[in-house]
Amino acid sequence: MNWKMGVIGFGNMAQAMIGGWIKSGAIDKNDVYVCAAHYDKLCRSAEKYGVHPCRTIAEVCEKSDMILLAIKPYQMEKVIPEVKEMLKDKVVVSVVSSWMFDRMETVLCGGTHHISTCPNTPVAVCEGIIIVQDKHSLSDDEYTTLMNLLNQIALVEVMDEQHIGIGGTLSGATPAYAAMFIEALGDAGVKHGLTRAQAYRLAAKMIQGTGKLYLEEGNHPGAMKDAVCSPGGITITGVEALERNGFRFAVMDAINACQAKKM
Ligand SMILES: NC(=O)c1ccc[n+]([C@@H]2O[C@H](COP(=O)([O-])OP(=O)(O)OC[C@H]3O[C@@H](n4cnc5c(N)ncnc54)[C@H](OP(=O)(O)O)[C@@H]3O)[C@@H](O)[C@H]2O)c1
Repeated sequence: MNWKMGVIGFGNMAQAMIGGWIKSGAIDKNDVYVCAAHYDKLCRSAEKYGVHPCRTIAEVCEKSDMILLAIKPYQMEKVIPEVKEMLKDKVVVSVVSSWMFDRMETVLCGGTHHISTCPNTPVAVCEGIIIVQDKHSLSDDEYTTLMNLLNQIALVEVMDEQHIGIGGTLSGATPAYAAMFIEALGDAGVKHGLTRAQAYRLAAKMIQGTGKLYLEEGNHPGAMKDAVCSPGGITITGVEALERNGFRFAVMDAINACQAKKM
């Protein structure tokens, strides 16, 4: 199934996903129709990706089989009722936070084929994570086509509504913390004489490589840490310093804070 793809809300997340799909060759940019609130700004971002800017949501719907819904959560109750008739015959894929299947049913027409997801920004370089809700109303063929598309840009995890919140925090918020870790390592590298560009490059590649090592070999993270710490060595001295400063608690506390804020 080759979909013409429509995008309602061509902001950061939609651009990351469309950019990833174009980069991976999963979609043809000529098959993508996008709209947003401000047309002039939309034209500039559409030009960057080579996709078609549309003046209205109706135009996007007319030209597309699948609609990626990527507006802000608070805009849903205003935007969707105006266009729900047009979405009825489309496959609607939402990335809108906290709009899971049951809540989507309250604003869409009955019988609309829809699914809720939660992506993170590394989808832009085809190294993302996309959490997909297990409850959806896509046909088997539509679901298979969507999964094939999502797999081109991300590790896909299917979850129930109860776990999507924490899954989304662990994958969606944490790129900010990983970037902070890279920045901190960069500062440390600079303090000890590396150039900033070199230090950031080393830190970023280390995070990418450590993640890949885990995903490919599946060793316990504690064992991965132990494998780098020789007795009486340099690395274990750094581990002790991190523990003295509450490194692991700081990480867990950040996730707790995100979850508390979502309540
Ligand atoms: N960013 C993330 O890391 C992330 C992660 C997971 C999920 N999400 C979800 O993705 C969604 C989009 O987030 P974002 O970060 O991409 O936000 P964003 O950059 O602000 O993009 C929102 C887009 O919606 C457009 N828009 C506003 N009103 C509209 C209307 N009436 N009709 C059509 N388009 C309209 C905006 O247009 P203008 O720019 O012209 O105003 C903009 O293109 C949110 O629901 C968020 O929860 C984001």
